[in-house]
Formats: sequence, C-alpha cells, structure tokens
Amino acid sequence: MTAPDRFSTSGPDWAIIPFDAADPAHVAAIAAIWTGACGPDLALAPDTVLYHTWSVTGAVQAGQLAVCDGQPVGVALASAFPDDPATAMPDLGWIDAIAVLPAHQRQGIGSALLAWAGDWLRDQGCSAGQLGGSLRPFAPGLPTALGTAAFFYRRGYEDAHHTWDLAADLTDYSPATGALAVTCRPAEPGDGDALLAFWQREFPGRWRFEYQEHLREGGRLSDYLLLWTDRGVDGACLLTLENSLRPVERFFPYGLPRPWGQLGTVGVSQDRRGRGYGLTLVDAGLRRLRDGGVRGCIIDWTSLLDWYGRFGFAPYREYAMLYKDLA
Ligand SMILES: CC(C)(COP(=O)(O)OP(=O)(O)OC[C@H]1O[C@@H](n2cnc3c(N)ncnc32)[C@H](O)[C@@H]1OP(=O)(O)O)[C@@H](O)C(=O)NCCC(=O)NCCS
Repeated sequence: MTAPDRFSTSGPDWAIIPFDAADPAHVAAIAAIWTGACGPDLALAPDTVLYHTWSVTGAVQAGQLAVCDGQPVGVALASAFPDDPATAMPDLGWIDAIAVLPAHQRQGIGSALLAWAGDWLRDQGCSAGQLGGSLRPFAPGLPTALGTAAFFYRRGYEDAHHTWDLAADLTDYSPATGALAVTCRPAEPGDGDALLAFWQREFPGRWRFEYQEHLREGGRLSDYLLLWTDRGVDGACLLTLENSLRPVERFFPYGLPRPWGQLGTVGVSQDRRGRGYGLTLVDAGLRRLRDGGVRGCIIDWTSLLDWYGRFGFAPYREYAMLYKDLA
C-alpha cells in the first residue's frame, strides 16, 4: 500500500502512534495490515474495518499503529465496556485485533502492541483480557489456522475453549424434518416493541443490546426473523445478507459461493425450549436466505456442531478463545 505521508517515525526502526478512528488512512492501514498478516482467507476491506471501529454505545476503544520508515506495519485495537454490566462484564476487556505485516514480524513489534493493549485494558479497570469476541468483533477468537497461538501462550494467554463458524451451500437446502406449523416471518414495522420485549425477557444481555444497536445504526428490522406463538414473539434470529448494514464480509465467507449470507443469533424463550421451535426457526431462516438467492451461508460462533449438522452445516473455521488475567 502507499503510506499516508503524515505517518512519521521516530528513528530508523519503528515507532508507535495512536490510532485515529476518524482518519480514513488509519482505517485503510488496519485493513491492509490485517489482510497482509492474516492472508486472503481472512481479508478485510476498509469498509468492514470502519464497521468494526464505529462507536458502540457505552464502549471505549483505542488503538496503536506501528510505523516503520513512514509505513504502517502493525496494529493493535482494544476495547472495554465499563459502565453497563447488564450487557457485558465491565472487568473483561477485549483485544479486538492485533497484526503485524509478515516482513516486520519477529522484531518485537507484536509484543509491544500486545503489552500496550494489556496496559490500556488495565487502565480501563479490566482485570482480564480476551482476544477477539468484542461487541463488534473482528473475530470471535483467534483463528486457529493462523498458527499463532504460541505467541499468545508465551505472553500469559490461556486457551479456555474453542468455537466454530459453520458453513453450507444453500442451493441444495431441503427443509429440515420436524419443523412445526407455527408462524415464522420477518419482523414488520409494527413489531419492534414486541421484539424488544422478547429480548428483554429472554436474553436481556448482549443479544438485547445488539438488537438495540442494530436499530440505532439504521439496520433493517426485517433482518430479524420472528417466531410467533399464541402469546406473541417466542423466538427470533438475525439474518445477514449482502445488502445488510452489518457487512457479511465480517464472517470471512470468501471460500463459499456467492451470494453470501449469515444466520445467527438464534434464541427461543426459555419455557418453550425442547419443543422444536429452534429447529423451526432455523429452518425458516435458511429457507428465507435460500429463497433470497443466498448460496454460501455461515452460522457463526457456535459449538453446536451436531445440531447445526442436521441442517447440512459443517465446520468452516475454528477459533481458540484466549484469555489473560491482567490483575
Ligand atoms: C502474532 C503477531 C501479531 C506477532 O507479531 P510479531 O511482531 O512477530 O511479534 P514479536 O516480534 O514481538 O514476537 C514474535 C516472536 O519473535 C521473537 N522476536 C522478537 N524480536 C526478535 C528479533 N529481533 N529477532 C528474532 N526474534 C525476535 C519474539 O521473541 C517472539 O517469539 P516468541 O513468541 O517465541 O517469544 C504476528 O505474528 C501476526 O501478525 N500474525 C498474524 C495475525 C494474528 O495471528 N493475529 C491475531 C489475530 S487477532
């Protein structure tokens, strides 16, 4: 990439400067560094990075760029959510992204960026840090295919568990057996309050927050698919299409046939589980995506491999969930 000329270095090697989310050159630099370090399977365009760095209500985010000979070559972004325990734990912060261009690795840049991120999170009152998985995640965790887990282990991060993105080509999707004859339909303009009441009652934390953020940012209400019973909304799931506000590239679908789509989160009322509503909702969502032309479809951030296997989904990408005690 061409380095923006306002990047300055303090010497012959590299220097660290603050990331400015309002500067398009900084956003483009993150996209180029992330893509250069992680490869084409995990490529990010500047528009997707812009989405990841839009302000999230109640969140604080900061970043550092490493600059070498006027060129941005490394980045770390971190975020915290200090004041809204109903949505997310204030004492757990996130390292949203860390990457160094291959030609500049093994020179201490990644270590310096990771140490900065840990210090910054501690300054925000966080006693633990998680790699990935933030409220606007670049990725749920560390993509295991990168082969960089040892770098984080040696710096005190521990592998808590793994999670997966699953994928299928919906061209041949045939409706799941066992779907119930209940109404599943996209949310309509008058459904907003009923859907909010559902999230507040059943999933009052992160999923309720994500719904409110989706609407605040101008996302389509109809990207939510609702399952109705006699008492109202008893299930909901979010669908992402190529023209949704949330960029579908967030799920790195590049290995799949286009058009791309995504399904999730999926939630059913606590007292209505075990009756086939979840299966019915997912089936309706997949049929909606397929009928809208979607081929390559991702169900992200799940460990329910067998359950989604019933719909023809198979593991597509694996993530290690890495945490460090910062106290
Ligand atoms: C993980 C990553 C950020 C590390 O960046 P880096 O700049 O290479 O990190 P460092 O140079 O500080 O450390 C890397 C290794 O080089 C060693 N090193 C540092 N300076 C060195 C030098 N001058 N000469 C030789 N080795 C050196 C470090 O000791 C370290 O080895 P260790 O892990 O065994 O201790 C980088 O590999 C990367 O971008 N990977 C792809 C993206 C990725 O995995 N990101 C996480 C997704 S969120």
